[in-house]
Amino acid sequence: MIVSGSASQALAAALARELEEPLAAVEYDRFPDGELFAAVPGFDADRAVIVASTVSSDAHVELLQLQDAVREAGAEEIVTVVPYMGYARQDEAFEHGQAVSARAVARAVSTGADRVLTVNPHEEAVCEFFEPTATAVDAAGRLADPLPDDLADPTFIAPDAGAEGLAGTVRDAYGRGETDYFEKTRHSGTEVEVTPSDVDVAGRDVVVVDDIVATGGTMSEAVGVLREREAARIFVTCVHPLLVRSAHTRLSRAGVEAIYGTDTIEGPASAVSVAPALAAALETND
Ligand code: R5P
Repeated sequence: MIVSGSASQALAAALARELEEPLAAVEYDRFPDGELFAAVPGFDADRAVIVASTVSSDAHVELLQLQDAVREAGAEEIVTVVPYMGYARQDEAFEHGQAVSARAVARAVSTGADRVLTVNPHEEAVCEFFEPTATAVDAAGRLADPLPDDLADPTFIAPDAGAEGLAGTVRDAYGRGETDYFEKTRHSGTEVEVTPSDVDVAGRDVVVVDDIVATGGTMSEAVGVLREREAARIFVTCVHPLLVRSAHTRLSRAGVEAIYGTDTIEGPASAVSVAPALAAALETND
């Protein structure tokens, strides 16, 4: 039976269709003191596949509750799918005294799961924080699907070196074009500085590819450089379109034609479903 976290309801339904498994009824509520309440009334299966992007601290707690609820209701095997793993960018103690938050949340999730899958984590090494090690599902190839067929002499650019492989994957899936990447220095949670390569984009269509768009700070810096260099159309594509605060408006104002992401985050930019990739991963390792 497929069980959805409140932030992943459409993806869970799509996965249920892919796997031809029933979708469990779920209840999400909150007590007057603010504590969360999650339940799976009527759950009746040996295996639970819980699909829950941990987009907030509440979503983390809700996932732990759902794991506990299905175990209470008789599930013998619990597969937890975390399409977008929150806290994954806090994957080391950058200064003395800091928490490795990705490890802390992974350990908590592991206590209630027999198996964990996640989609394009920020660093694949975070999979090792889970016990047993989580499976990283690569959905990046699908990011080429919504792009127009008529891109003019396209370049696929990563706004930082970490996304270079992703840009290559999207270019390969699109079938033609160059790849390049910029260097990025992060000054704070919202301030980044991008040092561009010498790529010539004048008159060419550009696809900027990253794993996550959160505040849009990284993307808008990259888009600014591309505009100065007189790129033709600029598309933004990412696996996880978090798009917090005014990110969508920020990128639209910067002159981006369209923002395409997947449904690991459900919202206006969820152009591509990761359900087929998740279904394939679940079936392969059954
Ligand atoms: C960081 O290295 C990630 O790959 C993304 O570039 C980053 O998370 C984007 O964040 P923001 O949209 O806030 O700049």
